[in-house]
Amino acid sequence: MTRKDLMAGNWKMNTSHLEAIQMVQKLGYRLDPADYDRVEVLVCPPFTALRSVQTVIETDYLPIALGAQNCHWEEAGAYTGEISPTMLAKLGVSYVIVGHSERRQMFGDDDGAVAKKLRAVLGAGMTPILALGETLDQREAAVIEEIIGGQLHAALDGLDAETGGGLVVAYEPIWAIGTGRTASDEQAAEAVGFLRGLIRESWGEATADSTRILYGGSMNPGNVAGLMAKRDIDGGLIGGAALDPDKFAAMIRYYK
Ligand code: 13P
Repeated sequence: MTRKDLMAGNWKMNTSHLEAIQMVQKLGYRLDPADYDRVEVLVCPPFTALRSVQTVIETDYLPIALGAQNCHWEEAGAYTGEISPTMLAKLGVSYVIVGHSERRQMFGDDDGAVAKKLRAVLGAGMTPILALGETLDQREAAVIEEIIGGQLHAALDGLDAETGGGLVVAYEPIWAIGTGRTASDEQAAEAVGFLRGLIRESWGEATADSTRILYGGSMNPGNVAGLMAKRDIDGGLIGGAALDPDKFAAMIRYYK
């Protein structure tokens, strides 16, 4: 299997640019070359800290990738308050999260918007991290496959493996986000395996095999190893715990 683990910190709406500089510096001190060989490390600060974090990464030669938490789908224009994929790419951003449940639930990002954002991110030469997941009600009603399968298909509809195949998927059950209630290793692996199966059906074995699928939702230093032991889980999209460089570094080094 050729998939390199990806540990991504989604800082959400936290940190001033000054705090962000300190966070990434502290993270850099805690990691060594063996960690970066084993695991791809990604931080997704708020827009206002991207430039500062990028400067630290560059001047300290840190092999840490830079990601954004959202973007608009248009290239430029009269879209007050929005940020375009091209602006992000120019800042050295290589990943953009699209479809995070907080955006879907609070900011009206529906499947159509998510699909447009995903294409725009690909078009600007960056890698989308497509986030999806079910609510507790949906899990209890046993419609999880319908929900996450629907979200995946809506986002990828019409894309072929060549154009879309480099994307990262993040399975984030909404009931596990910020709640301290993680999906069990088995629940997470089952959903991730299901998503990989759908990618296989659409895009074939090779793409299914190379697509990284992350788990997100109350991942922490205590549960990371169990989740990562599952063959289909290729990393984490980590919220709260990624705001503490000690915890995030411990999670990156889960394999030790
Ligand atoms: P928590 O790790 O805080 O549950 O957040 C997960 C998440 O939403 C990452 O995108």
